[in-house]
Amino acid sequence: MRSLSCLFALMLVSPVGTQAQETAADLPAKAQTCIACHGPGGNSTDPQYPVLAGQMPRYIYLQLKDYKQDRRVHPPMTPMAKSLSTEEMLALGDYFAAQPRTGQVEQGDPALVARGQKVADDALCAMCHLGGFSGQNEVPRVNGQHYSYILGQLLAFKNGHRTNDAGNMAAVVKTLSDDDLKALAAYIANIQ
Ligand code: HEC
Ligand code: HEC
Repeated sequence: MRSLSCLFALMLVSPVGTQAQETAADLPAKAQTCIACHGPGGNSTDPQYPVLAGQMPRYIYLQLKDYKQDRRVHPPMTPMAKSLSTEEMLALGDYFAAQPRTGQVEQGDPALVARGQKVADDALCAMCHLGGFSGQNEVPRVNGQHYSYILGQLLAFKNGHRTNDAGNMAAVVKTLSDDDLKALAAYIANIQ
């Protein structure tokens, strides 16, 4: 608390460069590393890297913790989380959550998108992810995410390659065909 108010006092007495100081204070030190893959502000344009901008802060924190503790495993991402402290993971979660999600929605085949909406309604995805897949707490926001990343995660839950969901996702997707999962991914990636 004390160091925060000192910083605040410093910013108040400093007549120049306040903007730059504010930006530097907002950007956690480790975030530069993340941006190399996840894009500026976490708005990744390369579908192999999930969008982090506007994600739930608690979800980001919990995923980083899971990678660090090998509950979620992915060779490029796991080493990134290994060196992070709890404070750094929380700060990174807050930082990326506060960035607006700016990417374009991915236009899928309209018939597939319509089928995906029906599957999502029947499977009650919104019970946890809320309407429009906007997310809450530890349940991720999925709208505006890359199609191939969404599909990859749905298949990973179904095939048992991703198991850090306390069974929540596995129970839902194991009853769905791979074609249903493709339709779901097309629908969600297409939500504004
Ligand atoms: C070398 C590239 C690379 C770097 C650097 C990197 N990541 Fe990742 N990250 C990935 C990949 C690839 C995935 C998807 C992994 C998977 O499928 O489990 C991922 C997944 C994630 C996820 C899970 C997203 C979700 O929707 O579930 C979070 C959170 C995350 N990264 C945060 C970070 C943070 C914070 C940093 C910086 C400390 C960082 N990443 C640095 C490649 C990277
Ligand atoms: C019972 C609650 C629940 C229901 C119902 C549910 N989800 Fe999830 N979902 C979760 C939770 C919790 C996570 C995060 C799991 C974790 O921490 O790894 C998640 C993760 C995901 C992810 C991974 C996102 C990412 O960024 O990696 C996708 C995609 C997803 N859900 C899609 C769906 C779809 C599509 C449906 C409906 C067919 C659905 N979910 C139904 C709770 C639920």
